[in-house]
Amino acid sequence: MSTNGRIVVLLGAPGVGKGTQGVRLGRELGWAHVSTGDLLRAALRNGTPLGHEARKYMDAGELVPDGVMIDLVGEHLAGLGPRRGVVFDGFPRTVQQAEALDRALAGEGRAVAAAALLDAPDAVLFKRISGRRSSPGGRVYNVYFDPPRRDGVCDETGDALIHRADDQPETVRTRLAVYQEVTAPLIGYYEAKGLLVRVNAEGDIDEVYAALLAAVGDAKTAVDGIATTGS
Ligand code: AP5
Repeated sequence: MSTNGRIVVLLGAPGVGKGTQGVRLGRELGWAHVSTGDLLRAALRNGTPLGHEARKYMDAGELVPDGVMIDLVGEHLAGLGPRRGVVFDGFPRTVQQAEALDRALAGEGRAVAAAALLDAPDAVLFKRISGRRSSPGGRVYNVYFDPPRRDGVCDETGDALIHRADDQPETVRTRLAVYQEVTAPLIGYYEAKGLLVRVNAEGDIDEVYAALLAAVGDAKTAVDGIATTGS
């Protein structure tokens, strides 16, 4: 059964597990996983003009301006083509970005199929973020919950794992405040369209993945084939 062309958006606060779940969903369904945080971090590493512009916002825990993000995602989507399923992680993050995504998809004759809200208390988010270690390629580990086989080294690439610059507690507090103020309104945006599904993200990684699959599968418009491709 084809899953091509479907679009799922992952919503949720910093550290809730959007990247962890998005990578797995993409891998298991054969969809593109589009993380705007990863795209920006790659631009930073490569020293591009985009990376240069984004750094000041990211280091402060603030959002990169909508126009920059909308252009970035628009280019990325065009490169993927309309037949490819996509799981978005970290985009959209403002109502303006959500409206721009809807317009871009409408231009291809498609639309968001489901927006999954991953939800966990702030104390859980802080613990997860404090233990996060990331590979430059985007694979994420956790020293408490999902450690690499060898301390500080990515299992898949052998690269040294890094502690993200924006994971300092003060910056995390800013990111959480920005989430509440600017991104949380997207919950109402997608609820009004009948696309919102809620996922309890307090359990371990496998439990959350199972809940995410069930929730997205329950959203009527969602995902052909999702039940047949599980882990
Ligand atoms: P981005 O990279 O998107 O950061 P974020 O949304 O703050 O999310 P995180 O990456 O911190 O967390 P996550 O939910 O992906 O959790 P993860 O899976 O890693 O954005 C960074 C910055 O870029 C922004 O602040 C902004 O400046 C800019 N930006 C990006 N997109 C933008 C946009 N659209 N507009 C404007 N600016 C934008 O998990 C966290 C840790 O917990 C990991 O260690 C993981 O192993 C562990 N973990 C995950 N799930 C579980 C579990 N169930 N149990 C135990 N541990 C778990």
